[in-house]
Amino acid sequence: DKGGHKHFMAKEIAEQPVVVAEAIRSYLPTGSDRVVLPDTDLDFSKLDRLTMVACGTAFYACLTAKYWFEQLARMPVEVDIASEFRYREPPITDRTLALFVSQSGETADTLAALRYCEGKADKIVSVVNVPESSIARESDLALPIHAGVEIGVASTKAFTCQLSVLLMLALKAAADRGTLDDDALADHAAALRGLPTLLNAALDQEEAIRKSAQRLSEARDVLFLGRGLMYPLALEGALKLKEISYIHAEGYASGELKHGPIALIDKHMPVVVMAPRDAVFDKTVSNMQEVMARKGKVILVSDDDGIADAKDGVWSTIRMPHAHASVAPILYSVPAQLLAYHTAVAKGTDVDQPRNLAKSVTVE
Ligand code: M6R
Repeated sequence: DKGGHKHFMAKEIAEQPVVVAEAIRSYLPTGSDRVVLPDTDLDFSKLDRLTMVACGTAFYACLTAKYWFEQLARMPVEVDIASEFRYREPPITDRTLALFVSQSGETADTLAALRYCEGKADKIVSVVNVPESSIARESDLALPIHAGVEIGVASTKAFTCQLSVLLMLALKAAADRGTLDDDALADHAAALRGLPTLLNAALDQEEAIRKSAQRLSEARDVLFLGRGLMYPLALEGALKLKEISYIHAEGYASGELKHGPIALIDKHMPVVVMAPRDAVFDKTVSNMQEVMARKGKVILVSDDDGIADAKDGVWSTIRMPHAHASVAPILYSVPAQLLAYHTAVAKGTDVDQPRNLAKSVTVE
C-alpha cells in the first residue's frame, strides 16, 4: 500500500517525521535528557575505541556518526565498508566496541564482518531495522531503529532513523565518558525532540526541490559537496541520485574540490552544495564560489541565514529551517532524497525497483 503516493520511496520519505519521532521516543524517554538503552550494561567509559562497519547508505550513516562520537564523546572511531573490513584482518582489541549498521540485517558482507569480530571485540552491537534478522540475532545487543518496513530499494527512512539512533548512542557515550555536561546533554535532547517538526518543514519544500530536480534531470554528471557533518551526506546524496536516476554523481568533501574534481567543472555541471550556516559555512561558500567562477551551476541547500549570505550567482536554492548543528545531517537528508526522487520521476525511471539492484544483498 503506497498510502496515496506514486511510489513506495515517496511514501517512505514522507513518513520520516513520524518514524524518526518513534525512534527518538524509544531511546530518549519523555521527561529525561538521558539516553536509555534496553537491557544492557554497555558503558562507553570502559571502551577505548569504536569500530563501525556497514555497506552503502548504512555506511554513510556510520561516517556521519564518526563526527558525533569524536566531537561529543571524544572517542576514537574507525569506519569501514564491510567488504573491505572482512578481508583486511584489522586488529580488534578487547576494549573495542564493534558496531554494525544494517537496515535488512541480512547483508552478507556486514554479517561476515560481524563474525570476524566475535571473540575479539568487547561487545558486538548492531543498529538494525529488522529485529529478527541474522545480524540482530548474532549481536550482543541489537538496537532497532523503528523505521517500519522499507520497500523502496533506495533507502530513505531507514537512513534518518539510523542517524537518529547513532546520534543518541553518541550522546550515551558522551554521558558515560563525562565529555558533555548536563546542560549540553539537555541541549542535544531538545534538538532531537524538535527534529520531527523540522523534517515536516523540509518536506514542505518539496515543490522547490522538484523544480531543482527538473534541472538536474538534464545533466550527465552531478557533484555533491559538503563539509564536516555534511560531507557524508554529500556521499549519500550522490548515491541516491545514481541509484534511481542513473545520472553519474559523486560526493566530495568541499575542501577536496581543488585536489582534482574542480577540473570537471564547466557550464554543464550542476553542483549540489549542502551548507547550513554552521561553523564551517564560510569555507564551504568559498569552495562554492570557485565552482561558480568556472560556470558550474550551484544548487545551494541552506537555511535563511546561509541563503541570505551566499545566494548571489547560484542556479537555485533550497531552503531548510534553521537546525541545531548535530541534527542538521538528519534534516538535510530530506532534500537529498527528494532531489534524487524527483530527478528519477522526471526521467521516468523505475524509482522503487532500479535496474541491477536488490533490496537486500545477501551474497558477496
Ligand atoms: O540492509 P543494509 O542496510 O545492510 O543494506 C546496505 C546497502 O545495501 C544499502 O544501504 C544500499 O546501499 C541501498 N540501496 C542504498 O539506497
